[in-house]
Amino acid sequence: MDFPANLCIRPLTISDLIQVEELEAAVLPEDRCASKEILRYRLTVAPELCCGLFLREYIPEFNQVNLPEVAERINKEHHDHVHHAAIQPDEPGKSSVVRETLVGHVLATKIRGSKIPADSTELLVEGKSQAGHDERSRIIGIHSVCVSSEWKRRNLGTLMLHDYIQKLSNQDLGDQIVLVCDLDMVNFYAKIGYVQLDESEQLEGGRVNMTIDLIPEEI
Ligand SMILES: CC(C)(COP(=O)(O)OP(=O)(O)OC[C@H]1O[C@@H](n2cnc3c(N)ncnc32)[C@H](O)[C@@H]1OP(=O)(O)O)[C@@H](O)C(=O)NCCC(=O)NCCS
Repeated sequence: MDFPANLCIRPLTISDLIQVEELEAAVLPEDRCASKEILRYRLTVAPELCCGLFLREYIPEFNQVNLPEVAERINKEHHDHVHHAAIQPDEPGKSSVVRETLVGHVLATKIRGSKIPADSTELLVEGKSQAGHDERSRIIGIHSVCVSSEWKRRNLGTLMLHDYIQKLSNQDLGDQIVLVCDLDMVNFYAKIGYVQLDESEQLEGGRVNMTIDLIPEEI
């Protein structure tokens, strides 16, 4: 399947907080959305473990070269009032990106045990809960995987998770990723390489723990 040409995957930062919160609210049931405080905490303590899948829009001059079909639409939308008069494509030090729209994300922290704690959406302060980020841990706990409804089932979730595993492995950020998912999502994660942590164990609501080892590629 063809991916959008203006797709970009990058670590999230605290400046992405609003879009992250909006994406969770749009795709997750209310009781599985983390509060703004928790999202802020995760993006602050472990930005290198949080990645975002964005659609980028460029200043018109760049769209004309890279994405002519997008250029036409944006030129119409932004006619007269976008910075395009101010930014020249060959001006050093100026970004050609005018907008990044978050369409997918993975949020994680380093966790203390070998499984995602049951109170992971209730965590507030590191140290007061098992769910706080522990920089010394080698186990990365994914708390949220989301792809916006508009872009669902176009392989973007799979692409984002493969990219996530590859980057974390090669950056030697941990030994293992763990997550909790609904039974009907087990095949989705299994196709990516995750295995069930304890086949006999089912959590409340029929959810299961899954894991994958992070193995750096030989160069
Ligand atoms: C789960 C999610 C991240 C997948 O992203 P995506 O970009 O749609 O995934 P891909 O296109 O790479 O893969 C699609 C596959 O995921 C699985 N899948 C996606 N949504 C599913 C669902 N609601 N139930 C069961 N399987 C699902 C299917 O195997 C599907 O393959 P199919 O289209 O051939 O049936 C996305 O659907 C999402 O954000 N869902 C809401 C939030 C959520 O449930 N997150 C996961 C928490 S564990």
